[in-house]
Amino acid sequence: MRVYDIIRKKRDKEELTKEEIEFFVDKYSKGEIPDYQASALLMAIYLNKMNKKETAYLTEAMMNSGEVMDLSAIKGVKVDKHSTGGVGDKTTITLAPLMAACGVPVAKMSGRGLGHTGGTVDKLEAIPGFSIEMTPDEFIKSVNDLKVAVCGQTASVAVADKKIYALRDVTATVDNISLIASSIMSKKLASGADAIVLDVKTGDGAFMKTLDDSFALAEEMVEIGTAMNRETIGIISDMDEPLGYAVGNSLEIIEAIEALKGRGPKDFMDLCETLGAYMLVSSKLVSSYEDGLIRIREAIKSGAALEKFKEFVANQGGNPDVAEDYSLLPQAKHIVEIKSDKTGFIDKIEAEAIGVSAMVLGAGRETKEDELDLSAGIVLKKKVGDFVNEGDTLAVMHFNREEKFEDAKRRFKDAYVITEEKAEPKKLIYGVVTKDGIEKF
Ligand code: URA
Repeated sequence: MRVYDIIRKKRDKEELTKEEIEFFVDKYSKGEIPDYQASALLMAIYLNKMNKKETAYLTEAMMNSGEVMDLSAIKGVKVDKHSTGGVGDKTTITLAPLMAACGVPVAKMSGRGLGHTGGTVDKLEAIPGFSIEMTPDEFIKSVNDLKVAVCGQTASVAVADKKIYALRDVTATVDNISLIASSIMSKKLASGADAIVLDVKTGDGAFMKTLDDSFALAEEMVEIGTAMNRETIGIISDMDEPLGYAVGNSLEIIEAIEALKGRGPKDFMDLCETLGAYMLVSSKLVSSYEDGLIRIREAIKSGAALEKFKEFVANQGGNPDVAEDYSLLPQAKHIVEIKSDKTGFIDKIEAEAIGVSAMVLGAGRETKEDELDLSAGIVLKKKVGDFVNEGDTLAVMHFNREEKFEDAKRRFKDAYVITEEKAEPKKLIYGVVTKDGIEKF
């Protein structure tokens, strides 16, 4: 078999066989296919697409390109949750201890942020002492003892995805449904969970900008998970404006803790409740979505979720006192209010531009080598639909890198559209995809 022939077939819109896809994944993972040929094939896939069968073969080949974790030593139904990525998305930090407090074993492997989207691992590292390094035995023991552990993605899981993703990132081939579905599902399937709840983001700050594409991505991932005997649910949620108010690592930790105290922003609380209720149903701990909601609200009200957060942080070497004293988190030297130039209703806050603005301040990395400033970021004071007068504060910027401020501020201001008329309120959840079909809200 020759990779040249595989590229030519896809260029000519032909279907690839299981053997051809396995050959490419295996040889590229081992460094036996050069990046220029892999790039050509990825671009041919991007332009001419893969059908569902090819996508399933690609997912399986990538899953088998590394270690497939065995979590059978963890008791109970392990439920994983994965977000396709967004701005201000601190959901895992709240949901992991919240689900553990409700009785769901959470064994979570998380990633770092790149570009305008943040990553759970970076956010957790804003907690002094917190470590995501764990041996497999420590990870399993933590989940059995505490019901929660979050570790970094190990280099040995879905090896092909790491190489292919890095290449996609620099060849403009990220936002393709088959490539995203196989990338995410290969990692989820290799991570060993019994059930998977996918938070598929839609809108300006998401990879999938339209609802149709977001539903199609969710459908594809649910089909792959179902075919591999994992109960898989896809929830389509809004990422047109940032989630909650805080964007930036330590600022998002504060907002995630506030949510565990029942005081989080409405959109963020609603998303945690929705995803959490589906996770509880998938874990078979409750028999209905409504019972899931009741259990979640009780865990927050009783303080059990916050206590679980402190146990989880302490278990991974972090200082649990951050839950009560936010000044223990990294603090920026400069805290500057950004004022509105206009009077009117906020019609749009482009999530991607806000993510880039926070990244410029130091909250994210443009390249893998960039060093983060864990204290940097933006706290919005207004959201879409709010009324502002000229001179009102739109947001507060936290930063240390003074030379970056003007650029970040310009990008931030360009992200706002302020109009005379109030826009129709937007939905947070657009629908749910299960093996039984699509339900649109
Ligand atoms: N997240 C992933 O893990 N892979 C993608 O391709 C896109 C988002």
